[in-house]
Amino acid sequence: MPITPFKVILKDAFDKRYGVGAFNIVNDLTLEAVLQAAEAAQSPVIVQTSVKTVKQIGLDVLYTMWFEMARKTTVPVCLHLDHCPDRAVISACLARGWDSVLFDASALPYQENRRQCIEVVAEAKQYGAGVEGEIEGIKGVEDGIGSDTESARQTLEVSLDFIRATGIDCFAPAIGNAHGVYKETPKLDAQRVTDIVSVQPLPMALHGGTGLTNEQFQDLIARGCSKVNISTALKITYMQSNLAFLREAEAKNKWDPPSLFKHVNQAVREMVTGYLEIFGSVGKA
Ligand code: 13P
Repeated sequence: MPITPFKVILKDAFDKRYGVGAFNIVNDLTLEAVLQAAEAAQSPVIVQTSVKTVKQIGLDVLYTMWFEMARKTTVPVCLHLDHCPDRAVISACLARGWDSVLFDASALPYQENRRQCIEVVAEAKQYGAGVEGEIEGIKGVEDGIGSDTESARQTLEVSLDFIRATGIDCFAPAIGNAHGVYKETPKLDAQRVTDIVSVQPLPMALHGGTGLTNEQFQDLIARGCSKVNISTALKITYMQSNLAFLREAEAKNKWDPPSLFKHVNQAVREMVTGYLEIFGSVGKA
């Protein structure tokens, strides 16, 4: 079962209360490493692309890379577009084959976000694709999208209204989480997840995964956070493993690109495997 609908991947995780890692890849090497780690762990996985990565690599090249690698996997995988406020990019990715999108209209007034999200869900349905929605900006700027100030949290009634009216497949509530590196372990409003899920049993997305403790991950996954986003940790692992290898290459005056790629691939795979173990998705494929 290789490329699998977003909704199907998340339903199994939600029902069995494990988390599916959603990793933001930045190029072919990191894409391959994420898929290899998931395959080796027999774990489902979500590959995410930021709008910046889509624009940098280009829609067709990125999708072709994804499709050629993903079709050979034996574990459930899907391609998701992370935080996207731009309807034109959403439409282009859906038409090209992305399996799901996060329509990020959190900067718009609530009613307008709700109205447009209903349209995005209808558009995605035409392709059999899924939608993640949000009504508050997650703190922190990620690949040029977001804000450093936390937006006010909406009430439970508003959250439930949004989920019911839009028909989204996954909801990303702000619970004190943030993108990027936390200065200290954040205090999370885990109860908000329980409050929403107990009335509206829908998979929740946990953003800002990098820097949370194993206990926080496991508690939130048990409450219904079935999609767990990791971006910053992948970027750090990617950059630091390149740096370490290049420093050694310089010291030895030995310059062999394939050896560098192998070294970085291993570091990213190990990082991903570690998260799959924490999220409890190993062997769930
Ligand atoms: P981190 O960058 O904190 O890992 O968060 C990732 C994320 O939520 C992507 O949307």
